[in-house]
Amino acid sequence: AAARRAPRTPLAFDPIASVADTVDAVTVPDGYRWNTILRWGDPLFHTSPAFDPEHPDAEAQEEQFGYNNDYLDVMVTDRRGREALLVCNHEYTNRAIMFPPTEDDAAEAEVLRTLMAAHGMSVVDLRRGGKGRPWRYVRGGEHNRRITANTLFRLTGPAAGSALVRTAADPTGTRVKGTFGNCAGGTTPWGTVLSGEENFNGYFRADPAARGSKRYGLTDAASVYGWEAVDPRFDARQGDHVNEPHRFGYVVEVDPTDPTSTPRKHTAMGRFKHEGANVHIGRDGTVAAYMGDDERFDYLYKFVSRRKYRPGTSKAARRHNLELLTEGDLYVARFSGSQKPTNDNLGQGAWIPLTLDGRSMVPGFTVEEVLVYTRLAADVVKPTPMDRCEDVQPNPRTGKVYVACTNNDRRGTGTNPATDAANPRPANKNGHVIEITERHGDPGATSFAWDLFLVCGDTDQAGTYFGGYEGPVAPISCPDNVAFDSGGNLWISTDGQPSSIGKNDGLFRVPLVGDERGHVVQFLAVPTGAETCGPVIHDRDGSVFVAVQHPGEDGSWEEQVSFFPDYVAEGSRARRGAWRGPRPSVIQVTQD
Ligand code: FEO
Ligand code: CA
Ligand code: CA
Ligand code: CA
Repeated sequence: AAARRAPRTPLAFDPIASVADTVDAVTVPDGYRWNTILRWGDPLFHTSPAFDPEHPDAEAQEEQFGYNNDYLDVMVTDRRGREALLVCNHEYTNRAIMFPPTEDDAAEAEVLRTLMAAHGMSVVDLRRGGKGRPWRYVRGGEHNRRITANTLFRLTGPAAGSALVRTAADPTGTRVKGTFGNCAGGTTPWGTVLSGEENFNGYFRADPAARGSKRYGLTDAASVYGWEAVDPRFDARQGDHVNEPHRFGYVVEVDPTDPTSTPRKHTAMGRFKHEGANVHIGRDGTVAAYMGDDERFDYLYKFVSRRKYRPGTSKAARRHNLELLTEGDLYVARFSGSQKPTNDNLGQGAWIPLTLDGRSMVPGFTVEEVLVYTRLAADVVKPTPMDRCEDVQPNPRTGKVYVACTNNDRRGTGTNPATDAANPRPANKNGHVIEITERHGDPGATSFAWDLFLVCGDTDQAGTYFGGYEGPVAPISCPDNVAFDSGGNLWISTDGQPSSIGKNDGLFRVPLVGDERGHVVQFLAVPTGAETCGPVIHDRDGSVFVAVQHPGEDGSWEEQVSFFPDYVAEGSRARRGAWRGPRPSVIQVTQD
């Protein structure tokens, strides 16, 4: 490739140094500051009670910002740049640091119901005085909405209504209560938000002998979250609820512009531990969604819609585009090629169809079975077992797809799969990033070229590789969420640096082309115990947003280890909203 210069981005900054994993602070570059937009428990409606973790209250939580914000987008909705919609996921909860312990069964039941309400998603109106000014959320905003483990969803696609997804409470097999484990996501070109239902297995007790249980990690032990104590559908071992787990593990689509709309789960995109989904539109309108299954040795997938994208914002175009993800072909990836990371030694890969034109391509599986037992169906066609695909996102400028393989400490150990071209490192603690180029740049292609863009780790570690860049770079480990700025640079947020390289997790920028390709620099670091989620890069507006997830998660109610974001001093509990404990929050970083 010609050595073009890296595209310029208006967001100039002096990179920060990496931050030790004990530091309970947000670190940003000189000349930047950060502020909180929304914290766990902030009231979203005029009727919302104030945040009060001493008294868990499910009804209150239904009207407050949820816990553990993960996927994030901030969509500016007016020309003057004064109004925006914030959409985010609330992936899971940390009961031990959220609420006081109790021995009382009724009180614990209310805690569990509150945790169910702290899951899901939020849609919140933002406002500000003008471009470059900080955003504030609008309490009682007209689009404000909480989606929780109890919100009604509609199942779409070939498996909707099938016997595999019917329950006693829903004999139609189309009306599902709630979403949880919502990890990463993506905003579609038609303005909706996709959200991946990831670790749904942790919410169920199930029959370990049932089809798919083993492959999906469903067991008959008490569930991780214990919701079966307050809602029998989470005990799926027998009877009315055996199919309940089949109604989770999908890509969810939410229309944030219409708070009365029924969110949907798209069975055509398969069922697995969906990290997220990101859409790319080809030159001819072909619509592809790229998706990872975040589990050691699981797979990378692509969905290609049966219909083409219709540009524009007319009602007819919108109605058409809202159906794009309900029908199409599902593929899984197989990689081949060299194990040497270099820029000019591209590997090859194939997208192997699991469904095509509404038919199953997997011997012994009906189309419904492929879409509900997707992992089992994919196993048959021998895809490449990956090192935990997290965010998978096409670069809107080039269509090249970036796959964050976060880590896999079992790669090549014992009887586990050996290293391969796309997963070249044994006991991969630090992860890597793969760059995929679809054949002819067509998102509907069935073959692709690929290379290893980053092999992460501390810079002096053997085997690290930074896109061929020879100069000094920031250490980076466990890539998780990715985003792009207006110049087409890749931004990577991490999850797991404390255990791999002893540093707080952070947000990094790296150019993809030119002499600076692979030059990783660090923009921010999150507080102790936290993961950097989001991220959203509004570089033309001089701001970056991140969702600070699970700050201080190793603490307890009595001994909190993070006090992010309010850092309330001892003895000042009387201050309004003040609480000496961590609150997962969406923050905004702006230039001074
Ligand atoms: Fe929820 Fe795959 O991280
Ligand atoms: Ca993730
Ligand atoms: Ca992303
Ligand atoms: Ca992760």
